[in-house]
Amino acid sequence: MPAAITAQDLSFAWTPEQPILNGCSLEVPQGQFWMLLGTNGSGKSTFLRLLAGLLKPTAGRVFLQQPVGFVFQNPDHQLVMPTVGADVAFGLVAENLSPQQVRGRVAEALNAVNLLDLERRPIYALSGGQKQRIAIAGAIARHCEVLLLDEPTALLDADTQQELVLQVQRLVKHRGLTALWVTHRLEELDYCDGAFLLEQGRVIAQGDPQKLKAKMIELELAKTP
Ligand SMILES: Nc1ncnc2c1ncn2[C@@H]1O[C@H](COP(=O)(O)OP(=O)(O)OP(=O)(O)O)[C@@H](O)[C@H]1O
Ligand SMILES: [Mg+2]
Repeated sequence: MPAAITAQDLSFAWTPEQPILNGCSLEVPQGQFWMLLGTNGSGKSTFLRLLAGLLKPTAGRVFLQQPVGFVFQNPDHQLVMPTVGADVAFGLVAENLSPQQVRGRVAEALNAVNLLDLERRPIYALSGGQKQRIAIAGAIARHCEVLLLDEPTALLDADTQQELVLQVQRLVKHRGLTALWVTHRLEELDYCDGAFLLEQGRVIAQGDPQKLKAKMIELELAKTP
């Protein structure tokens, strides 16, 4: 299966004294849902920004199927319009579509995240989980091939967290999207096809999510006195 996301020997530093990524490589196969784990400050968010082209690496290259959608930890940093329908349509302004085509894309995207009935709802009147699904709908409206999600469940309660991870799992399965999801929550590994562990600027383990989960638990246990 071809890769939809490829990072080759990526290096990056915010300051010369502190390299964050050091020859980091990974590949996510097309049509799969993978997760990225690592301790606080290991560089997961920086890595996702490099993949999305929001930062430039000091060395190495990225290849991603286009277009790419990004979902941030806090949806209030990304939803910019007053209503759900307007926000999903906002991402389409650069695409030169007719008003009818825009309405069609918005309906398709809201339907894909099961929120068609909220099209006229003001953004402020949404729950945290609904806001994250609207952020995902924005990417679907743009017909994104790749979805990058940076701890999208960090601000959600346990039930809403599970709903969101299931939603992304369904989108990957039914729409053929490729998703890379950053998390700290080991229970989320139950929903993905594979996972990477990022430490000291590189991927130090990858593959079967249950094996990685066991390794993470072992590393955590090894740390406790
Ligand atoms: N804009 C910035 N300027 C300078 N240093 C930064 C900047 N953003 C992040 N860093 C530093 O880069 C390192 C990696 O940060 P990053 O946010 O990528 O880690 P992370 O793995 O996402 O952590 P977390 O699990 O806490 O979200 C940290 O030491 C952080 O302080
Ligand atoms: Mg982060």
